[in-house]
Amino acid sequence: MAIRLIRKSGDPVLREKTNQVKKITPQVIKLLDDMAETMYDAEGVGLAAPQVGIAKRLVVIDIRDETGLLKLINPKIIARSGEETAVEGCLSFPGIAGEVERAENVTMEALDPSGKKIKITASGLLARACQHELDHLDGVLFVDRVSRFVEPE
Ligand code: NI
Repeated sequence: MAIRLIRKSGDPVLREKTNQVKKITPQVIKLLDDMAETMYDAEGVGLAAPQVGIAKRLVVIDIRDETGLLKLINPKIIARSGEETAVEGCLSFPGIAGEVERAENVTMEALDPSGKKIKITASGLLARACQHELDHLDGVLFVDRVSRFVEPE
């Protein structure tokens, strides 16, 4: 595994449209491993492939609860309900935090690294992380959704 460079605000790759992963190759597996290592190194709870300069639909999430590390290929939100506003940040925007309204609960479908279709039902912080990371795959950044910027913790 290797730590990759995290692309920061202003890097055009963060706004690029990403591509579906058609085949889970060893390179895809390696990229997911590297993304996880990069996320842990930066003490983040999620990272999307565009944040390491790759326009593919891949995310890793770990909110440090019993869910553990999620490595998601071609994730898609298939249901959402409720709403909740909380403070978010992003590894691509160091030193910036703001309140963002998100769905409180989401259901997501994705492939896991073995190619198995998985369904994840999430609420609270995990639901928020899923929505934030999936936004990255569409070139949407949390600052686009901030209702009020706050001092970072
Ligand atoms: Ni982010």
